[in-house]
Amino acid sequence: MGHGIAYLFAAAGHEVGLYDADHTVLADARTRMAAAAATLGRDPAEIERVRFERDVARAVADADFVIEAVPEWLSSKQEVLEQVEGLVSKTTVLATNTSAFPIARVTARLHHRERALGTHFWNPPHLVSLVEVVQAPSTSEVTVARTMALLADAGKRPVHLRRDVPGFVGNRLQHALKREAIALVAEGVCDAETIDVVVKEGFGPRLAVLGPLEQSDLVGLDLTLSIHRTLMPDLDRTAEPHPLLVKLVGEGKTGMVAGEGFREWTAPQAEAAQRRLDDFLASRARAEAARAPARAAEESDDDSQSTSGTTGGAS
Ligand SMILES: NC(=O)c1ccc[n+]([C@@H]2O[C@H](COP(=O)([O-])OP(=O)(O)OC[C@H]3O[C@@H](n4cnc5c(N)ncnc54)[C@H](O)[C@@H]3O)[C@@H](O)[C@H]2O)c1
Repeated sequence: MGHGIAYLFAAAGHEVGLYDADHTVLADARTRMAAAAATLGRDPAEIERVRFERDVARAVADADFVIEAVPEWLSSKQEVLEQVEGLVSKTTVLATNTSAFPIARVTARLHHRERALGTHFWNPPHLVSLVEVVQAPSTSEVTVARTMALLADAGKRPVHLRRDVPGFVGNRLQHALKREAIALVAEGVCDAETIDVVVKEGFGPRLAVLGPLEQSDLVGLDLTLSIHRTLMPDLDRTAEPHPLLVKLVGEGKTGMVAGEGFREWTAPQAEAAQRRLDDFLASRARAEAARAPARAAEESDDDSQSTSGTTGGAS
């Protein structure tokens, strides 16, 4: 994530210092950024705005904004932010790219917590526009505003989350779906492949243009309520990781990397799945970049009009 985040800010015109404890990762980062630039059809010279530093103090010197993207271990994140706080000014924003830890726990050891918050990028950060900006109880409004502006200016789609809940919004939604998917397979309703077909060929494609609450408004909340009265008592409510998931991991079936997870994967099948995803995200990012001026005009138009009711027939 670190090289992708560094690249997107460099492409937006910022000077960036990138540090990794593993210096081979730093060497590799330049190549990966060049691949990102090629995917987006951008000038690779933009990568020259990145300084690849072998010393963390040099990487963050004079920085207005620092984002940590070390592995998802609470103590590592706390240590890195604590170290960085000793190297930057009191007004430098300190952000964590944690996927799920509450921000207040990641930033607990800082002296000036008002300038700390979560910036949850999605992978790969240069291709997915959403960034969840997570405000912890101690985060100041100024810090949120500066972060939202910086991200929007870099072409991202920042959303402000006012409460620091584990998993934020995106991962809570994604894992709520996974909970039911795993339970359906465990109960023998269908196999894992069928779950994926139902999502990819059913409601998945429309999620990119119509979110779940927009879709509820479209079909009518009375219909949504009626479906919920039938479904809610029946949906999975396992309070722990599902036993099927625990069993598979215990057996070493950790997914594509192991050749088996919920489904079996040969190496070429796994590579093809990754390529399919990369190609899709890259073409979507290119199309969005081409459409950006028109969308900005549409949005400013929408802002100046009141909303009106819509009827329709999506399910
Ligand atoms: N991969 C994703 O899809 C994704 C998406 C959103 C958020 N995240 C979050 O982003 C963070 C990073 O994830 P990733 O997938 O890039 O992990 P990664 O393991 O690929 O990269 C982490 C890097 O941090 C370096 N590192 C470890 N300790 C360090 C230290 N003390 N100082 C400096 N560098 C150090 C490692 O050498 C490694 O290169 C995690 O918190 C993860 O949960 C990941």
